[in-house]
Amino acid sequence: MGINSFNRSNMTKVVIAGGGVLGSQIAFQSAYCGFDVTIWLRSQGSIGRTQPKLDALRQSYIDAIKLMDSPEGSSNWCRGIADAENFNAAECLNKVEEAYSGIKLELDMAKAASDSDIIIESVAENVKDKVAFYEALAPLMPAKTILCTNSSTLLPSTFAKYTGRPDKYLSLHFANSIWKNNTAEVMAQGQTSKESFDAVMAFANEIRMIALPVNKEKNGYLLNSMLVPFLFSGLDLYVNGVSDPASIDKAWKYGTGAPRGPFEIFDVVGINTAYNIALQYQKVPSLFSPLLRKMMMPYNFKGMMVVLKKMIDEGKLGKSAGEGFYKY
Ligand SMILES: NC(=O)c1ccc[n+]([C@@H]2O[C@H](COP(=O)([O-])OP(=O)(O)OC[C@H]3O[C@@H](n4cnc5c(N)ncnc54)[C@H](O)[C@@H]3O)[C@@H](O)[C@H]2O)c1
Repeated sequence: MGINSFNRSNMTKVVIAGGGVLGSQIAFQSAYCGFDVTIWLRSQGSIGRTQPKLDALRQSYIDAIKLMDSPEGSSNWCRGIADAENFNAAECLNKVEEAYSGIKLELDMAKAASDSDIIIESVAENVKDKVAFYEALAPLMPAKTILCTNSSTLLPSTFAKYTGRPDKYLSLHFANSIWKNNTAEVMAQGQTSKESFDAVMAFANEIRMIALPVNKEKNGYLLNSMLVPFLFSGLDLYVNGVSDPASIDKAWKYGTGAPRGPFEIFDVVGINTAYNIALQYQKVPSLFSPLLRKMMMPYNFKGMMVVLKKMIDEGKLGKSAGEGFYKY
């Protein structure tokens, strides 16, 4: 589905709760697309940590637009910033400055929530913190407000009962660097109404995301439900001595026409992240679908952890460190 193929969301006022890595990006992107944006933060200290993130994002958007306007532009296109067909660098730079000066930082939750059309919760990935946030927020929202979580690993049904509006509560999950990696996975929980789901799909589209419907709850949403088992399958072949990373990558790339094999992807994602994901998937086997769970159990997770930990200890952290499974 392309941009502009949805009805309008009829939203204007957007509130982001939490100004961390992702909260600041969602806020910046929404403001860049013309929305009235407030970031709710819990303390003065949070303001001190969020403002430098917004300063850095302003620069990232400016750098991206300049690159898009250069001869290397087409291979570095940021779909969250503009379409190639009607790109106007000066207009985009102007939108960046308007976004940067327009974002409001607010400590008063009631003030932030008043008259909000959508609130996107992007606070720490911790059940207790999220529940406390929803319980405090529930009595402060006007009836019309749709509430979303950006949680990567927690399911919205865990929190629906604390929101005071389970029919208007769902997941809106972004990828990191949303001006480039502009997917938004929109995931319903059992009580989410169709109207809220459609409105969030439309909103995601309006902030230049490729809105992807996830009609049932699923850990890992769409991308990670496919990517994580794929990466583990490659790593399992390696740690069991079946073959070496370069050959496994070639089998995948030349056999399917895909641009990268599992070890090339591991090197881009970073070995620390790979280690953390392997750790988490071992602890919570339900992260795999029931079908996959049976297949995953024979995986040599112990061997994977040894290989990944050794690489971390040796500083082979992936492409950004100059070496991972490959040397760069
Ligand atoms: N980092 C990513 O790549 C990524 C990608 C997609 C989704 N997410 C999700 O986004 C959410 C935030 O992740 P992040 O990476 O931005 O984290 P972060 O640690 O960078 O930011 C967390 C923010 O929440 C605030 N916060 C922490 N505890 C709080 C509390 N008790 N009450 C209110 N505010 C609190 C912090 O001050 C900070 O502003 C998580 O649910 C995470 O799963 C992260």
